[in-house]
Amino acid sequence: MTDAVGREPQYELFADDFADHAGDSFHNAWYDRPACLRLLGDVAGKAVLDAACGPGFYAEELVRRGATVNGCDQSARMVELARARVPGADFRVHDLAEPLRWLADDSMDLVLFALAVEYLDDRVAALREFRRVLRPSGALVLSRMHPTGDWLRHGGSYFADRVVEEVWSRGWRVRYWLSPLERTCEELHEAGFLIERLREPRPEPAAAELDRERYERLQREPTGFLAIRAIPDRRGG
Ligand SMILES: C[S@@+](CC[C@H](N)C(=O)[O-])C[C@H]1O[C@@H](n2cnc3c(N)ncnc32)[C@H](O)[C@@H]1O
Repeated sequence: MTDAVGREPQYELFADDFADHAGDSFHNAWYDRPACLRLLGDVAGKAVLDAACGPGFYAEELVRRGATVNGCDQSARMVELARARVPGADFRVHDLAEPLRWLADDSMDLVLFALAVEYLDDRVAALREFRRVLRPSGALVLSRMHPTGDWLRHGGSYFADRVVEEVWSRGWRVRYWLSPLERTCEELHEAGFLIERLREPRPEPAAAELDRERYERLQREPTGFLAIRAIPDRRGG
């Protein structure tokens, strides 16, 4: 195992299956999305960048709530699926390892970065780009796997950054970074953000209908996701 996730679009292989799953899944529909949408707040009339947009479930809801959405994803098939789902948004294939050249400075009110920070080898560079395109009054909402759950599954040092491989859901093989909570906080700091809120969300009650045992476990254990709202630190200019 190398210490890099690399540039290969891992989700390309199972984009359709992910789209089929995530529309009404426990983890996406009834856990991560409600938490991030709450942190985004009122999006009506706002310009939102949906970074690593996947098949467009967030974009669909954001457009429904009155936002203007730009989305991007490293997987071409994800972008095709997002375009088909949300004709009213603007999507492009883009690897977040590269700068967001098509977006001007201070052009976005909100950046959403849901469940994808784990795949980036240079997270600070990507976060700096989000900071650049955000207006001074804007905010970034980021969700990631809860580091406690990652550590309990993999053991070893909680504090050691490392790339691991897992097989998820319907046999999807994914390579991603394990990193402690402190690392995410420091990376946001290095990129020029101030953390405004950090949530350890619990699944919505509707999730219990899909998997009661998991629902009850996630009411007790920090082993699912966490979500952060961060704002540009204006003290640094
Ligand atoms: C777990 S899915 C989340 C999709 C969407 N944000 C959501 O929550 O529904 C992770 C997504 O990140 C994308 N991704 C992974 N690495 C990326 C990169 N370097 N640049 C852009 N997108 C990336 C994948 O293609 C995939 O669509």
